[in-house]
Amino acid sequence: MRIVLVGPPGAGKGTQAAFLAKNLSIPHISTGDLFRANISQGTELGLKAKSYMDAGELVPDEVTIGMAKDRMEHPDAVNGFLLDGFPRNVSQAEALDVMLRAGNMKLDAVLDLEVPEDEVVKRIAGRRLCRNNDKHVFHVTYTPPKTEGVCDVCGGELYQRGDDSEETVRRRLEVYHTQTEPIIDYYKAQGLVVTISALGKVDEVTGRAMAALRGEQ
Ligand code: AP5
Ligand code: ZN
Repeated sequence: MRIVLVGPPGAGKGTQAAFLAKNLSIPHISTGDLFRANISQGTELGLKAKSYMDAGELVPDEVTIGMAKDRMEHPDAVNGFLLDGFPRNVSQAEALDVMLRAGNMKLDAVLDLEVPEDEVVKRIAGRRLCRNNDKHVFHVTYTPPKTEGVCDVCGGELYQRGDDSEETVRRRLEVYHTQTEPIIDYYKAQGLVVTISALGKVDEVTGRAMAALRGEQ
């Protein structure tokens, strides 16, 4: 399956993507995670992305599209993928369509996670990530680690993302509304969008998402 996951910052895209990718046996491709990995490795691409991310702005398309394309061409993605955080504006969606058409592929669904703004603000404020692996995600009250500040999975130190400050989150939400939300209409025109509520326990949301992807909504 080829799926795009869309939703505001803090909606739970990364959290859900981990379970959905496992259930569907497809790789989870997150452009945010790819940028953060490049930043921690000090690559040129990471250097280019950092100032935009710190400000809550989108990294320019000429950097992002090439990086996403390279990742999608990896052998583990030949039979499908779950995209998280890409595409993030209409020109990225158009570029993805060109890539898919060139490979005789098409998207199966665009899963839209709906969460009220006050809830995403709470989710982001309490989010903690593992220094060893961005995919180990916790929340200080909703999904707390057994030991404060320590990752349950690998024992790594938990930290708060630099772009999770209140001011940057406000800007990321604005960018979501003005630049990313239009891709929902773009994909509605292709009949691909399934919208679910991302409120409730993590496993309830996963169940809802799997049912929606099976067309049982
Ligand atoms: P990115 O990393 O993609 O961030 P985002 O879209 O802002 O999304 P988040 O990672 O903040 O949230 P999430 O929805 O994954 O939520 P999570 O599962 O962590 O992008 C960061 C930056 O990179 C962008 O601002 C931009 O600069 C750049 N970038 C990335 N892609 C780009 C692109 N294509 N083009 C240009 N620039 C790009 O959950 C949040 C918290 O809630 C966690 O603590 C979690 O434990 C908790 N939680 C999750 N589900 C639940 C639940 N059901 N109940 C209670 N708590 C929950
Ligand atoms: Zn960890």
